[in-house]
Amino acid sequence: MANIVCIGAGYVGGPTMAVMAQNCPHHRIVVVDINEARIAAWQSDHLPIYEPGLDEIVRAVRGKNLVFSTEVDRHIAEADIIFVSVNTPTKMFGQGAGRAADLQHWEKTARQIVRNATTPKIVVEKSTLPVRTAEAMEHILNSNDKGLYFDVVSNPEFLAEGTAIRDMQAPDRVLVGAHTTPSGRKALEAVVEIYANWVPRERIITTNLWSSELSKLTANAFLAQRISSINAISALCEQTEADVTEVAHAIGMDSRIGPKFLRASVGFGGSCFQKDILNLVYLCEYYGLPEVAHYWEQVVRMNEYQEARFVSNMLSAMFNTVAGKRIALLGAAFKAHTSDTRESPALAVCRALLDERAAVVLSDPHALDNARADLGDQAAQVIFEPDPYAAADGAYAIAVLTEWPQFASLDYEAIFRSMVKPAFIFDGRDILDHRRLFDIGFNVYAIGKPPLVHFNSSTPRPS
Ligand code: NAD
Ligand code: UGA
Repeated sequence: MANIVCIGAGYVGGPTMAVMAQNCPHHRIVVVDINEARIAAWQSDHLPIYEPGLDEIVRAVRGKNLVFSTEVDRHIAEADIIFVSVNTPTKMFGQGAGRAADLQHWEKTARQIVRNATTPKIVVEKSTLPVRTAEAMEHILNSNDKGLYFDVVSNPEFLAEGTAIRDMQAPDRVLVGAHTTPSGRKALEAVVEIYANWVPRERIITTNLWSSELSKLTANAFLAQRISSINAISALCEQTEADVTEVAHAIGMDSRIGPKFLRASVGFGGSCFQKDILNLVYLCEYYGLPEVAHYWEQVVRMNEYQEARFVSNMLSAMFNTVAGKRIALLGAAFKAHTSDTRESPALAVCRALLDERAAVVLSDPHALDNARADLGDQAAQVIFEPDPYAAADGAYAIAVLTEWPQFASLDYEAIFRSMVKPAFIFDGRDILDHRRLFDIGFNVYAIGKPPLVHFNSSTPRPS
């Protein structure tokens, strides 16, 4: 049996350790966090995050071999293996502001480990970190005067929110990186052994430390790049009467391209894509590679353009003014099946419409509390309405901003009847039946598709 501790009970720490506990009944796993409210929620019937399948697993293992605690120091002292999954947001101050990763939480954790350890430990980087962070961590951890040696292993997490449990139960791959020294190899094997309890060995890949750290940033950069690429094409589709769904299908059937991650949208969101690419950009600049930095930065700039373009299209379609108009935004989460609103394009659209003095009503099945918190002072100007029918009642326009499946099967005839005419619908996720909506009477604007409008041809079309 190993004593495993995970520092950081967030979107990664909670679900990953729950699945690990379920598959490793012989190990004792403690998830610790300094956020008392979060830990209290993990101990309650109302978990702090919404993730399909999570409640059942937590209910099955909590109190058996999975414990949530705020006693960080005590559990560090007892641990054999420590996974660190604290947040690594974009640094907002000083050198590298707006690009570099803010590593203060990671470093504090490392120092806390040193302070409380009385035995050697394996420290696992689960957070997403700049390449070569492990080197700094080794310096901090091994500059102790207790004669203790700490191995640092990289084990980046590739789960996506909304499918976290499935991704963790049956991952495409698990990546573990460590030094090739005897001690490093032993530490690597200890981490591999944990995953081998449920992941087939051939899916557990091992690399050197730096490859492992860099693979995580690279994976996110490539995924986001695909979205920005198809979104760039969506802008061209709107000018040329090509249909982005058809284009994506046609190119995705080329097995070299593949069909996944080609859904054009109002933009990618989430806590990681933007921050990880900006971090990659910063690293390239730091290592004297401005051309490489510039190349990757365009992925983020294209995403910003897509969000801004969506709002411009709304404005231009609605006669260049939305001031005072009720607009129902369907979706606040950055993607379906999560309550997470971090960097959500829905909130970017919401803020832009508030700047235009629209009367915004925000509707989402799970994410309204987080949306309210994220909007801060601007939340006072927004109506939060879980019922999409009530949100649309009296609205001039609807915009679908999160691909919750339930938004595709609403009774749009009833919704149309309750709206101000001419009624507009903007599909930022291309999940609706546009032709049918047009037949109902809506003026329909979808990402990467020719608009379906009831006005005559002299009416200006959105650019
Ligand atoms: P999060 O903000 O949800 O959780 C991080 C937690 O760490 C917080 O609850 C915070 O209170 C805690 N924490 C910070 N400093 C601490 C300390 N000194 N001691 C104890 N607890 C501390 O973040 P997250 O979404 O879980 O992401 C964590 C890391 O995993 C990030 O590096 C992220 O890039 C990476 N990641 C995230 C996802 C995802 O889907 N969210 C997926 C893969 C990788
Ligand atoms: C992403 C990666 O998919 C994970 O592998 C990674 O572990 C994680 O980031 C991370 O490091 O945090 P996540 O952000 O949870 O996971 O969700 P994704 O499914 O990747 O979606 C990200 C955003 O892109 C969402 O806003 C989504 O709606 C959007 N998206 C996705 C599109 O607009 N089009 C697509 O085709 C796919």
